[in-house]
Amino acid sequence: MAKLIKLFHTSTRYYSGVSGNIKARKYVLTKYFNGEPKKSDFKIVEEELPELKDGEILTEAEYLSVDPYMRAYMIGYKLPTDMIGGQVAKIIESRNEKFPVGKYVVGQFGWRTHTVCNPHKPLNQVFMPTLLLNLGSHPVSLGLGILGMPGNTSYFGLKEICKPKSGETIVITGAAGAVGSHVGQIGKILGCRVIGFAGTDEKCEYLTKELGFDHAFNYKTTNIRDALKEGAPKRVDCYFDNVGGEISSTIMNYMNHYGRVAVCGSISSYNDSILPKVSILQPAIVFKELKVEGFLVNRWINRWEEGINANLNWLDEGKLKYQEKIYHGFDNMVDALIGILKGENTGKAVVKVK
Ligand SMILES: NC(=O)c1ccc[n+]([C@@H]2O[C@H](COP(=O)([O-])OP(=O)(O)OC[C@H]3O[C@@H](n4cnc5c(N)ncnc54)[C@H](OP(=O)(O)O)[C@@H]3O)[C@@H](O)[C@H]2O)c1
Repeated sequence: MAKLIKLFHTSTRYYSGVSGNIKARKYVLTKYFNGEPKKSDFKIVEEELPELKDGEILTEAEYLSVDPYMRAYMIGYKLPTDMIGGQVAKIIESRNEKFPVGKYVVGQFGWRTHTVCNPHKPLNQVFMPTLLLNLGSHPVSLGLGILGMPGNTSYFGLKEICKPKSGETIVITGAAGAVGSHVGQIGKILGCRVIGFAGTDEKCEYLTKELGFDHAFNYKTTNIRDALKEGAPKRVDCYFDNVGGEISSTIMNYMNHYGRVAVCGSISSYNDSILPKVSILQPAIVFKELKVEGFLVNRWINRWEEGINANLNWLDEGKLKYQEKIYHGFDNMVDALIGILKGENTGKAVVKVK
């Protein structure tokens, strides 16, 4: 169909008929994960896209996010189901003047190349597609990382759950990942002593030499209790728990009175079908009067921009650094998901669609 270009109100262009010509590619999960995700758990299918109605936009994905929660959440969906996930996408057709062609949106569109949606009608219960803030010279992919969901997880999780005070000691597991590496840097900005646990010596070196962590230990090769004695001589006031399992029990037993634990995730067992048994925690929680609180970042959906702007300001001031692990190609989504679950990434992992 011929591509018509019309003027919409004063300046917004919209292209009528593009959507009818484009087929989306998307991942459909056809088998529940058993252990590590596998390519054979998915099929990639093509989908016809409808012509846009008033208020709708057509987007083309540039970066897709791969996150640990994807491994954990899919058990809650009836199969077959479209794969979930966030993406940064460019608007390539619009019948919505607030979402003009050429702008970027961050949306929970799932693992798919093209999407038609009305951004004012939520695709899921929590996250509406939003225009990506002007990131200046920063890459748009940061909308999935330090200037997006993981950034806000770090910002709100640390500040609101751990409530660290200057001079206190924070311990972070999963410390070289998207959330952990960011939490540690905010901890340093707030004047704390920051100790990280990560899975390779290279990651630990990055945390101390590049990001300013006071100590970082390879949890695969170090005795955790000895590492805590060395890195946290005044014991631990705040624990940001990304991994769960026995390492978390050891850390919580090494905390100070009135310590605070932000339980963010438990990636150490996401691929396990039988959950591990770990040392009992109640004595430490009772006798040290610990506050242990789980959270989901969407608790702060009404303060979303506050977190993004705080992180953007720190980034612009040179106080926040980041690394991205960029996988290439829509066909490599599963490899990317497998990769983060076994620690291939330092910082945020994203897939560049083309
Ligand atoms: N509550 C929320 O709202 C919320 C939001 C976002 C993320 N999260 C959670 O936060 C945690 C970190 O997420 P992220 O996006 O920042 O992922 P990430 O840390 O960038 O990637 C996952 C990392 O986990 C580590 N890992 C894998 N297996 C492990 C194991 N058995 N023990 C310890 N570490 C292991 C790997 O690093 P190593 O090389 O160090 O092993 C890997 O690089 C996850 O648990 C996630 O589910 C929660």
